[in-house]
Amino acid sequence: MPTPTLDARLEAVLELIRTDVHADIGSDHARLPVRVIREGRASRCIAVELNPGPLALARRGVVRSRLQDQIEVREGDGFGPILPGEIGSASLCGMGAYTIRGILERAGERLPPALIVQPNDSALHLRLWARYAGYHVRAERLIAGYWPYPVLRLERASGADPAYGGVPLDAALKYGPLLLRLGGEVIRRQIEADIVRLSKVAAPGRESWHELETAKTALAVLDDGVK
Ligand SMILES: C[S@@+](CC[C@H](N)C(=O)[O-])C[C@H]1O[C@@H](n2cnc3c(N)ncnc32)[C@H](O)[C@@H]1O
Repeated sequence: MPTPTLDARLEAVLELIRTDVHADIGSDHARLPVRVIREGRASRCIAVELNPGPLALARRGVVRSRLQDQIEVREGDGFGPILPGEIGSASLCGMGAYTIRGILERAGERLPPALIVQPNDSALHLRLWARYAGYHVRAERLIAGYWPYPVLRLERASGADPAYGGVPLDAALKYGPLLLRLGGEVIRRQIEADIVRLSKVAAPGRESWHELETAKTALAVLDDGVK
């Protein structure tokens, strides 16, 4: 069975996984767990699926890969089919940030110490959740695609998240504390596009005005660097 290919966003997710037992929540085709095992990034994987069609697809993908001894497909909602303490990390990819946040909020004591999240829209609400839930942002990528896809590795840690040190908070929450430090063309294009879009609708007192100010601050951070 040939090794399944991943698109650029899932390749970025794959590179941030390294653990003993990993769970891929909302696995669909199960290509990610197959690559995780093939590349030795975990010794076991659990693929979780809620819906019958993707669940059948995941089961077929695992059988075809002949990795049934290492990848188990479980039916259920989010972390529901995972036991507390069973996994070292989990990935939640290709869903909206609100959906991912809802799954994380329902997970309770089943949450693992490391999470790799890839929302299809802004990661703002996941960064806010992480600060509240006691996870630090350890790595961030922004992958060009149909949209710019954020990919975050979050790790459970105590105290203030050092990733936010020296970066204006609103800009860091919206665009990513590490992404703003890293810079690059993808994030610059995203911020410039936001400024163009928001400039057309922003008026004092509106939410869009605040968003425009945040985007301008983020652009200044890219231009001047983090002090
Ligand atoms: C758009 S697909 C993304 C598939 C894959 N993770 C990727 O990034 O290519 C989202 C998948 O998540 C599943 N899903 C959505 N909500 C879920 C939940 N609460 N628990 C488990 N799976 C869920 C859907 O059935 C669907 O297969």
